[in-house]
Amino acid sequence: MQLLGHHQSLLLSLWLLMLMHMPSLMKMLTALLLLLPLSNAVELNLKGCERQCDYKPKLQPRPHSVSILEFGAVGDGKTLNTIAFQNAIFYLKSFADKGGAQLYVPPGKWLTGSFNLTSHLTLFLARGAVILGSQDMSHWEVVEPLPSYGRGLELPGGRYRSLINGYMLNDVVITGDNGTINGQGSVWWDWFISHSLNYSRPHLVEFISCKNIVVSNLTFLNAPAFNVHPVYCSNVQVQNISVYAPPESPYTVGIVPDSSDSVCIENCSISTGYDAIALKSGWDEYGIAYDRPTESVHIKQVYLQSSSGSALAFGSEMSGGISDVLVEHLYIYNSFCGVEFRTTKGRGGYIKGIVISDTEMTSVHTAFAATGQSGSHPDDNFDPNALPILQQITLENAIGTNITLAGNFTGIQESPFTPICLSNISLSVTCSSCSSSSSWVCSNVLGSSWLVFPEPCPEFSNSSLSCSSLLDSDGRAVGL
Ligand SMILES: *[C@@H]1O[C@H](CO)[C@@H](O)[C@H](O)[C@H]1NC(C)=O
Ligand SMILES: *[C@@H]1O[C@H](CO)[C@@H](O)[C@H](O)[C@H]1NC(C)=O
Ligand SMILES: *[C@@H]1O[C@H](CO)[C@@H](O)[C@H](O)[C@H]1NC(C)=O
Ligand SMILES: *[C@@H]1O[C@H](CO)[C@@H](O)[C@H](O)[C@H]1NC(C)=O
Ligand SMILES: *[C@@H]1O[C@H](CO)[C@@H](O)[C@H](O)[C@H]1NC(C)=O
Ligand SMILES: *[C@@H]1O[C@H](CO)[C@@H](O)[C@H](O)[C@H]1NC(C)=O
Ligand SMILES: *[C@@H]1O[C@H](CO)[C@@H](O)[C@H](O)[C@H]1NC(C)=O
Ligand SMILES: *[C@@H]1O[C@H](CO)[C@@H](O)[C@H](O)[C@H]1NC(C)=O
Ligand SMILES: *[C@@H]1O[C@H](CO)[C@@H](O)[C@H](O)[C@H]1NC(C)=O
Ligand SMILES: *[C@@H]1O[C@H](CO)[C@@H](O)[C@H](O)[C@H]1NC(C)=O
Repeated sequence: MQLLGHHQSLLLSLWLLMLMHMPSLMKMLTALLLLLPLSNAVELNLKGCERQCDYKPKLQPRPHSVSILEFGAVGDGKTLNTIAFQNAIFYLKSFADKGGAQLYVPPGKWLTGSFNLTSHLTLFLARGAVILGSQDMSHWEVVEPLPSYGRGLELPGGRYRSLINGYMLNDVVITGDNGTINGQGSVWWDWFISHSLNYSRPHLVEFISCKNIVVSNLTFLNAPAFNVHPVYCSNVQVQNISVYAPPESPYTVGIVPDSSDSVCIENCSISTGYDAIALKSGWDEYGIAYDRPTESVHIKQVYLQSSSGSALAFGSEMSGGISDVLVEHLYIYNSFCGVEFRTTKGRGGYIKGIVISDTEMTSVHTAFAATGQSGSHPDDNFDPNALPILQQITLENAIGTNITLAGNFTGIQESPFTPICLSNISLSVTCSSCSSSSSWVCSNVLGSSWLVFPEPCPEFSNSSLSCSSLLDSDGRAVGL
């Protein structure tokens, strides 16, 4: 039985991997066409069959560099430098067709309101350089909501523009020698908690409809809400960053790939008040109409901590669909929930083709969860019959210590979550009052399990459901 299951799983894994790489074949063709006339700093180097994090964009030095000092900026932590950043970037626009340019931020504390980036730009923060977000609300412009959300996430209507913005750009790098972007978000958290905001809170870095983006080698602190938010983007690499916001900061989130494809998140360390990494794709009727999925995402070697949310979350806004996501080497500690899939009736969309492999968890309340009753609706115009689909989810090779609840899977009666495949999972559940049978909560979910401890609920005993997997029959990752 198990051998048969393994053959099926091998076939399916090939199928899943092919699905994941179909876009990269297409990208390779586009890249070949694009590379001829342009000498991008973010050079695509696609060899076809590699996963998103395996093709490292080559970062070539920009032929031109200016320092923010040349635009009158003062790094005393008090002088407002918004105009200096805006002027520097306006000046650097003229280098776009000359190989692009670098804006260098030297050591110092550079207070600023929100500003825009431009294409073919590297924003480089030296060691000891700190970009400080202004705590004066008037330095943050209010802008239209995102079309796939129809309104602000937290309040109806518009939202504050993020601190650092990219709109319809190509080839942008935000990097440094461990420089810091500090949102000084405590004022926003207080305004949020006291209900004194009129618009939804801003994020630290947001890219809208951009391609070929790298964010690396930086520290992000105290974001008002999200830290890094690529939305409607392609080819996004987030590598080697650390993100911190205190446990009590309300709904602060680390990295949020949103209606974006071909995303790599690698070697990041994230500790936030709410989710550490959240994949999204729009909200109810707005997300369904905008119809842009998050797909081909590779997350590798990340260290996550989430005080009140989930270390790795899918949704709850997922109306444009989320698919073909591979997560490997996930370390989760001191968190409320480890990995969670969230949706609700009225969302539509799907979450499918997800493989989460090699997870270590320590001191996590709920290790794995999927819920079909999560989150609110943007307004009363959502379609209650728009049922979301959750299928082809594989959780494999996980160990956990000091877990309270192994799994909480509560699906939707009219659209059960299936198949969810558990394999080689061993969790030490430390809850004196709990028996093994109460370590799992299951309803409206169907799947299979193999080598799972503690023994999951009977819903996971259907061996005729086939599952995708990263492993071949020897338990090794399939290398294509
Ligand atoms: C920033 O970009 C947005 C969107 O493109 C634009 O509306 C706004 O005027 C820009 N702001 C500045 C200061 O250039
Ligand atoms: C990661 O970032 C740190 C500083 O934050 C730097 O010292 C290190 O070289 C970087 N590693 C890679 C592989 O980029
Ligand atoms: C990067 O900077 C942060 C904050 O300044 C610091 O805590 C961290 O140790 C630094 N990391 C490296 C690798 O230098
Ligand atoms: C919100 O709007 C009200 C009414 O226009 C205004 O009195 C208040 O100052 C605004 N609050 C903030 C934080 O801007
Ligand atoms: C990060 O910094 C290290 C050390 O300076 C450098 O070798 C590496 O290329 C940088 N990585 C990225 C992705 O920018
Ligand atoms: C991962 O990030 C850490 C901390 O920023 C850094 O010290 C290390 O060099 C990075 N490793 C790789 C393989 O990039
Ligand atoms: C076990 O995890 C819980 C959080 O779920 C935490 O409060 C507690 O301190 C942890 N115990 C140990 C011994 O680490
Ligand atoms: C089970 O998972 C562990 C990691 O949690 C791994 O070391 C081991 O090789 C896996 N075993 C099989 C049979 O896949
Ligand atoms: C399981 O998840 C559901 C839906 O999120 C929640 O209402 C319930 O309290 C959870 N059960 C446990 C035992 O945590
Ligand atoms: C197992 O799954 C198959 C395929 O979805 C279904 O036809 C069958 O009824 C399920 N068996 C049990 C016992 O749930």
